[in-house]
Amino acid sequence: MEKNKDDCSNKEQEEEQVVNPWVVSVKDGGKIDYDKLIDKFGCQRLDQSLIDRVERLTGRSPHVFLRRGVFFAHRDFGEILDSYERGDKFYLYTGRGPSSESLHLGHLIPFLFTKYLQDAFKVPLVIQLTDDEKCMWKNLSVEESQRLARENAKDIIACGFDISRTFIFSDFDYVGGDFYKNMVRVAKCVTYNKAVGIFGFTGEDHIGKVSFPPIQAVPSFPSSFPHLFSGNDRLRCLIPCAIDQDPYFRMTRDVAPRIGYHKPALIESSFFPALQGETGKMNASVPCSAIYVTDSAKQIKDKINRYAFSGGQDSIELHRKHGANLEVDIPIKYLGFFLEDDAELEHIRKEYGAGRMLTGEVKKRLIEVLTDIVERHKRARAAVTDEMVDAFMAVRPLPNMFS
Ligand code: TRP
Repeated sequence: MEKNKDDCSNKEQEEEQVVNPWVVSVKDGGKIDYDKLIDKFGCQRLDQSLIDRVERLTGRSPHVFLRRGVFFAHRDFGEILDSYERGDKFYLYTGRGPSSESLHLGHLIPFLFTKYLQDAFKVPLVIQLTDDEKCMWKNLSVEESQRLARENAKDIIACGFDISRTFIFSDFDYVGGDFYKNMVRVAKCVTYNKAVGIFGFTGEDHIGKVSFPPIQAVPSFPSSFPHLFSGNDRLRCLIPCAIDQDPYFRMTRDVAPRIGYHKPALIESSFFPALQGETGKMNASVPCSAIYVTDSAKQIKDKINRYAFSGGQDSIELHRKHGANLEVDIPIKYLGFFLEDDAELEHIRKEYGAGRMLTGEVKKRLIEVLTDIVERHKRARAAVTDEMVDAFMAVRPLPNMFS
C-alpha cells in the first residue's frame, strides 16, 4: 500500500476504498476490504480446491503465498489448469514499472511467486519492464527510466529465474513489429469513454497516459513474441500480479476475443503492508515505511524495532493478561509472508496471541528471517553481471522452454 495519493481525484477520495494501478487508498484509515474488491472487479476467490489441484499437477507442496492466501484472487486460473492437465502448456507474463533504484520486499512478492510457478509448471516467462510507463507517470527522463529498468532487471534476475525459459524486455527497446501490431489492434477496440471508465483518466492527463494501456495489454498475446511463440497463437497466458493491476487486464480480457485471441488468465495478490500498519494513513513521505532489498542488517533491525506496528499490549502485565492483537500486528503479518515453516508460525501465533510471547521476541524472529532473505538477495544480485542482463534481454528463441 505504499502508493502515493497525489493523483487521487476528489471523486475517488469520496469512495471508501480506491484501488487502481496508481492509487491504493482507504477512507479514514480503514483496511482494504479484499472481498469487496473481488466483487467490484468481478474476479474469483482462489479457493482450496484450486490450490489442491496445483499441488496434484505439479507434485510440489504449494508455495507459502498460496497456502497463506497472499495470492487470493484469480480469473480463469481453473481453465489454465484444465488445459495443462490435458497436456497443453501455457506461458507466464509479469512485469515491473521501474520507478525506483532499489526494490522493497513488497516488490519481490510477484517475482518470487512467478519463479515458483515457472519451476513448478516448467513454462516460459516474459517479464515486461514498463520504463515508458514510469517515464510518463513519474516524470522521469527517458534515459533515467531506461537506466532504472536495467538496474531493476538485476534484482529480478537475482530472484533466480531460469535463463533458458525467461525473456525480459524493456518497452523502449522492444515495442515494434508484431508487438506493435497487437497494440494497434487493441487500441482500436477501446473507446476513450471506456478508458476513462476503467482507468479514471481526466481531461488534464496527457495523451501519453491514455495511450499506454495497450502496451501493458499485449504481452498477454503469444503473437507479440514471434521469436518465442511463432505458430503457437493459441498458447494460453497466465499473469501473476498484485490486484491493483487488474484494470489493465480487465480491458485486455474484454478485447481479446474480438481480435481472435484467448483471454489471459490472472492470479492476483493482496498488498504487502507498510511497517506502520495496514490501518492509518499510508503516506509516501513517511520515512522508513518499508524494508528495502539494499538495507543493511542494522537498518532492518532498527526499522523493525522502531517502526513495525505492534498488536502487543502497552505493558507486560496487560500483555500477559490479554495477549497480542494478531489482526493488526505487523511482525505477525510479515512472518506470514516470509516464514516458511507452518508449524513454527502457528506456534508463534498461539504463544503471542495468548500473551506468553512478547512483541520483542516476535520481532527478533522476524529480524532473523528478513535479514536472511535480504542477505541472500544481495549476494545473488551482486553476482548478476551486465552480460547476464544482456543475455536475459536478448531477443532470441528459447528452444527448451517447455521441458
Ligand atoms: N504496471 C506495472 C507496474 O507499475 C508493471 C507491469 C507491466 C506489470 N506488465 C505487468 C505488472 C504485468 C504485473 C503484470 O509495476
